[in-house]
Amino acid sequence: MEQTFLMIKPDGVQRNLTGDIISRFERKGFKLVGAKLMQISTELAKTHYGEHADKPFFGELVEFITSGPVLAMVWEGEHVITTSRTMMGDTKPLEAAPGTIRGDYGISVGKNIIHGSDSAESAEKEMKLFFPEDDTVSYTKQD
Ligand code: CMP
Repeated sequence: MEQTFLMIKPDGVQRNLTGDIISRFERKGFKLVGAKLMQISTELAKTHYGEHADKPFFGELVEFITSGPVLAMVWEGEHVITTSRTMMGDTKPLEAAPGTIRGDYGISVGKNIIHGSDSAESAEKEMKLFFPEDDTVSYTKQD
């Protein structure tokens, strides 16, 4: 079954949106199989956002993501990678549709509440990076 990496960013945790966001994915029918409240190190942030290293906002991005706790998660379900991206909404909250997480709660492109893997390759890489001991759970959920 497909899995993806989702992370509630420091602004989402600070604004008490964690419960709402988890609830959205639960109600959609996805299964939470891994969760870790953690403070990201600068090294981990730089590795995670490596593809943006040459962007002008890279320093700001690393500073923000390490500024407070994040909730790192692994979610499982059919087409979870694409569907969770749709539920998150556009990266730029101003372009994110109402009803999406960023469309409902976000204003700034930097503080955009949640990160989600954009492909199967990214999901694999990001799950390994944030859950290196493979400390996720395998279980059956009743429908
Ligand atoms: P995310 O999906 O976590 O992946 C890369 C992040 O870079 C993105 O969400 C945004 O939060 C951030 N980002 C993109 N553009 C900008 C920008 N112009 N200024 C600050 N952060 C940005």
